[in-house]
Amino acid sequence: MIQIKEISAEETFPIRLKVLRKNIPLPYEFNGDFDKDTIHLGAFKNDKLIAVSSYMKASNKNFERNQYQLRGMATLTEYQGFGAGKLMLEKAVQILKEKNSNVLWCNARIAAVDFYKKQGFQTFGEKFDILYVGEHYVMLKKI
Ligand SMILES: CC(C)(COP(=O)(O)OP(=O)(O)OC[C@H]1O[C@@H](n2cnc3c(N)ncnc32)[C@H](O)[C@@H]1OP(=O)(O)O)[C@@H](O)C(=O)NCCC(=O)NCCS
Repeated sequence: MIQIKEISAEETFPIRLKVLRKNIPLPYEFNGDFDKDTIHLGAFKNDKLIAVSSYMKASNKNFERNQYQLRGMATLTEYQGFGAGKLMLEKAVQILKEKNSNVLWCNARIAAVDFYKKQGFQTFGEKFDILYVGEHYVMLKKI
């Protein structure tokens, strides 16, 4: 069984590094990681951390005021497809609803667009490039 818990910023770093920064020379620590409003979630299977994601207050001018940005969504390769990503997003939406947030958005890698669509996100605007990482869409979910 997979359990979702709040974790610290530091606990997200090893999985971010391994899954999201392999051969990508960009920082694995994000601005806002240690802000008081930031939430970090971890998915645990038999007490082992297998997936992480972070939710930060944001100010994208295209969206409503009380918005959060999802960052650093990553599941260890050998545990992908077991529901960890979906469960983290469900927990995040529950927490953000309690904070009266109305929108969660992210910069989605092309390879993850269909994953986010399955979780109720939609693309917004045109495809764009992020250096070293590749093409992305902004995707959002109303909550
Ligand atoms: C994208 C990612 C976070 C998904 O996490 P996960 O824990 O494997 O996802 P889940 O097991 O919760 O999948 C939920 C559903 O989405 C599907 N899914 C998962 N990844 C998918 C993908 N890349 N494309 C299409 N569908 C996907 C699953 O099959 C599952 O479908 P089901 O509900 O019909 O069974 C994970 O594959 C990953 O870490 N990828 C590499 C890093 C990455 O691209 N991160 C996102 C950066 S924007």
